[in-house]
Amino acid sequence: MPWNPDQYNKFQSERAAAFFDLLGLVKVRPDLEVVDLGCGTGELTRHLADILPGSQVLGLDRSSAMLASSSRYVRPGLRFEEGNISQLEGQYDLIFSNAALQWLDNHTRLFPYLWSHLRLGGQLAVQMPANHDHPSHLLALELAQAQPFREFFPQGGRESPVLLPETYAQMFFDLGGSEITAMLKIYPHVLADADAILEWVKGTLLTYYQEHLPAELQALFLEQYRRRLNEIFPQKPVFYGFKRVLLSVARR
Ligand SMILES: C[S@@+](CC[C@H](N)C(=O)[O-])C[C@H]1O[C@@H](n2cnc3c(N)ncnc32)[C@H](O)[C@@H]1O
Repeated sequence: MPWNPDQYNKFQSERAAAFFDLLGLVKVRPDLEVVDLGCGTGELTRHLADILPGSQVLGLDRSSAMLASSSRYVRPGLRFEEGNISQLEGQYDLIFSNAALQWLDNHTRLFPYLWSHLRLGGQLAVQMPANHDHPSHLLALELAQAQPFREFFPQGGRESPVLLPETYAQMFFDLGGSEITAMLKIYPHVLADADAILEWVKGTLLTYYQEHLPAELQALFLEQYRRRLNEIFPQKPVFYGFKRVLLSVARR
């Protein structure tokens, strides 16, 4: 189950709230060179481009499936390219990334690397989920370590690389950054039931688990996950408090 825009978009409005919080941290200035790392379908990149007059905005994503519909948002000043964040080229006035950098490992290396692509006077603005200690995430890890799935997860499942907000703040200070914002926010989602939580994580976290399993075990993993999740969350509706880290720093 690789990235699927339809599955990802099922909770579009809930996910958009964090994007607009991140957008609120962006210092609006004209004529910027901007990159949106892991831009996905490009719909939110268009909102970013729309608040930055005269800017050149590049949406970068490595998934052709996610980028497939991005052409509808292309306009002068906004373009999209397929490419890997870890091979970023160029220098930017704004490096923006919403809900994507959690897919890249080793943030103590990644952030200095992104910093090296930031011009003097530039801004880095990032939002990432930090929900890895929620039962919906711990359950996936637990299942991956159980039979018959464990042989496909020699590393034990997907550990989140996302660090504590204060660790990013210190890192930004050590890099010489200023105007540092680093915060954790809980997005209070109310979903119909545990199956809705499954639908949510199917669009993101579970893509990793499905990609590592052979086709014949994918449905079994989902079914066991669904059953256990319903045991943990029998409530209807169910409260899904979702933690996210919001970061912004200026390079002076
Ligand atoms: C959860 S989606 C977020 C999409 C969009 N930013 C949004 O907020 O709707 C994460 C995106 O990051 C992309 N991605 C993950 N790792 C990447 C990498 N190393 N290079 C480029 N894109 C990556 C995925 O293909 C996916 O489209």
